[in-house]
Amino acid sequence: MNEKYLITGGSGKLGTHLKELLSCETPTHQQFDITDPIKIRNYFNQDYKAVIHLAAISDQQYAANHQEESYIVNVLGCRNLAKIANEKNLKIIYISTDYVFPGTKGNYSETDLPSPANWYGYTKLAGEWEIRLNSQNWCIIRTSFRPLKWSFPTAFTNVFTSADYVDVIANEIFLCSKMNIEGIIHIGTQKKSFYDLAIKKNKKIEPELCTLPDFQKNRDLCIEKWDKLKEMHGF
Ligand SMILES: NC(=O)c1ccc[n+]([C@@H]2O[C@H](COP(=O)([O-])OP(=O)(O)OC[C@H]3O[C@@H](n4cnc5c(N)ncnc54)[C@H](OP(=O)(O)O)[C@@H]3O)[C@@H](O)[C@H]2O)c1
Repeated sequence: MNEKYLITGGSGKLGTHLKELLSCETPTHQQFDITDPIKIRNYFNQDYKAVIHLAAISDQQYAANHQEESYIVNVLGCRNLAKIANEKNLKIIYISTDYVFPGTKGNYSETDLPSPANWYGYTKLAGEWEIRLNSQNWCIIRTSFRPLKWSFPTAFTNVFTSADYVDVIANEIFLCSKMNIEGIIHIGTQKKSFYDLAIKKNKKIEPELCTLPDFQKNRDLCIEKWDKLKEMHGF
């Protein structure tokens, strides 16, 4: 079996880090447009170890303002890719998000019922179901990550997350790809406030209290299953 992964969205924030860690092929958006089933079917001219599907419209505001476009990319793109990967007997590893949950109670486990708070979350959740319904060999990773640098002068002390910096999460996804996990898995690092995450990189970031009533303040995913799997595999 070929040891190379096929990674979609390899030029994006996560893809840029992940492709450094894995033996992989990362076709461009133009070479491998996930909304074009003919193009993607024609691209599969060799075997791969698995497909890691990152390509998406990931900007939440853009998704909200371009609902049809984000549905076509995030939902129908998953359907196209899952069907073709399945025809080729390839496993598909799909990167989903903590935004499939409303961000109210926190500690969301793999068995909690999703209920997205925004359009982006809906498209990612619908993408999950396209993967589940159209592939017989899949893994859905729900996660969250931040750019390498904290880009604001302040960070919230009362908003909680299991997110980490993109290089840290790319490494966790790399480990996950080595474990051959099936089903849904929540990946992140221990629950923390955004302020605690921010000062890991920059001690000058000022603490700020989030007073917006509708803000998703408890977005952290339960990562117990992930921690146990890592321990079992000696990572
Ligand atoms: N950012 C987060 O905090 C976060 C958290 C949890 C999960 N995720 C998920 O993680 C994945 C990667 O996120 P990211 O932040 O790295 O995304 P990103 O930086 O926005 O990159 C998106 C990638 O998808 C490609 N793409 C967009 N439309 C495409 C299409 N129709 N066909 C093929 N490629 C297409 C883009 O290529 P071009 O730039 O060339 O168009 C780019 O390489 C996404 O699935 C996202 O939903 C993100």
